[in-house]
Amino acid sequence: MSGPFDLVLRNARVATASDCFNADIGIQAGRIIQIGASLPKGVHEIDAAGRVVTPGGVDAHCHLDQPMAPPVRMADDFDTGTRSAACGGTTTVIPFAAQEKGQSLRAAVDDYHRRAAGKAHVDYAFHLIVSDPTPEVLQHELPALIAEGYTSFKIYMTYDDLKLDDGQILDVLSVARAHGAMAMIHAENADCIEWLTKRLEAAGRTAPRFHALSRPMLVEREATHRAISLAELVDVPILIVHVSGREAVEQIRWARAQGLQIYAETCPQYLFLTAEDLGLDDGYHGARCVCSPPPRDRSNQEVIWNGLRDGLFTVFSSDHAPFNYDGTEGKKPGGAEQPFRHIPNGIPGLETRMALLYSEGVLGGRITLEKFVELTATHPAKAYGLHPRKGTIAVGADADLVIWDEGERVIRNADLHHAVDHTPYEGRRLRAWPAVTLIGGDVVWDGQFHPRPGQGRFQACGAPSLWPRR
Ligand code: URP
Ligand code: ZN
Ligand code: ZN
Repeated sequence: MSGPFDLVLRNARVATASDCFNADIGIQAGRIIQIGASLPKGVHEIDAAGRVVTPGGVDAHCHLDQPMAPPVRMADDFDTGTRSAACGGTTTVIPFAAQEKGQSLRAAVDDYHRRAAGKAHVDYAFHLIVSDPTPEVLQHELPALIAEGYTSFKIYMTYDDLKLDDGQILDVLSVARAHGAMAMIHAENADCIEWLTKRLEAAGRTAPRFHALSRPMLVEREATHRAISLAELVDVPILIVHVSGREAVEQIRWARAQGLQIYAETCPQYLFLTAEDLGLDDGYHGARCVCSPPPRDRSNQEVIWNGLRDGLFTVFSSDHAPFNYDGTEGKKPGGAEQPFRHIPNGIPGLETRMALLYSEGVLGGRITLEKFVELTATHPAKAYGLHPRKGTIAVGADADLVIWDEGERVIRNADLHHAVDHTPYEGRRLRAWPAVTLIGGDVVWDGQFHPRPGQGRFQACGAPSLWPRR
């Protein structure tokens, strides 16, 4: 006699953001309906004996098939990007519907839905990128989209085609406050970067490694402080994305000490790369690691580890921004090596995010398993209004789960499932990798990828649940 379960995960070492315990997990119609000892037999069974089972990852910062200024193109669309997510233990992604200046936000969202349609293998929600906060956007479009489930948006303080000035940021933050949305801020001072870039160019210093010198910690520190001040003026929580090192962390700690609700995200590149990965000489190979903010140095990596351990960081995201090194208009736009100003910013990381943090964080003794779950799944789901359907192992939650294999594995781009021709982590030794990824109770990865194009469902987001309702 079988129980009411389509699937039972048996003898799991269940890890949530608050507890680790041994249990069976009973799944029906894509959801967890029971957690307990000795559950009745299911139609299907997976024996997880002795293995850790975590919630599927929620990667709350990744870029897929985002329109770029020609000729630049992203390598991953919703097919290849979500395929690599699934194989790396991520079951929900939140990429960006980016408004071009002059475009309506609604048009950007409609276009992005078309890009995802029929392709996504994992569930997905959208952040918005607000680059043109016209009165129509501020008064009508943005409030309407928030009500429809697009409850977070990114504000850029840099990049000519995306950046907002302080007055515009205040306007957009006011909408976040009025409608209970989450504002994510890319904090780098655009004018300082431009001034430094021109000086470097005038001195003939245009190799990829000079990208790091054009965006020193100071430009991130100043913009982080300014973003905090603008949020304080409006009295609204914000989340600072891709924090790279000590001086920005200090600003966030200071703000928290004042009682301000400043949340923060960091990414694998600030734990596992340094500015040296952009090159020690003027060769072009370092273009692979050009991203913003740039990776810093080993002492800054330690500051980021401390922030992950002690709660400074709310979420750990990949900031997957997939550009090929060779061909198809990635890191060599126009088919040739370019001065660093023209190298597309961003590195791939969707598939390696979870395993890197599990290996070096949990198995390296730096963070607890509960903290790993909080950073990679529970808090991202709470920050963007997807919890408790996503990001936890609980009765009623979607059966999005990862069974972990602890054992040595070496990262090889040839083994990854994105469409990017490199990984910045080539040759790096890991201590764990997802053995099985389940989405809504379906096995999507078990050492083989089981495609389910179009079965990844759009998730309308609710209000962030990191803070009490106002
Ligand atoms: O260099 C990066 N981070 N590229 C992706 C876009 C962004 O600002 O997050
Ligand atoms: Zn950014
Ligand atoms: Zn990004």
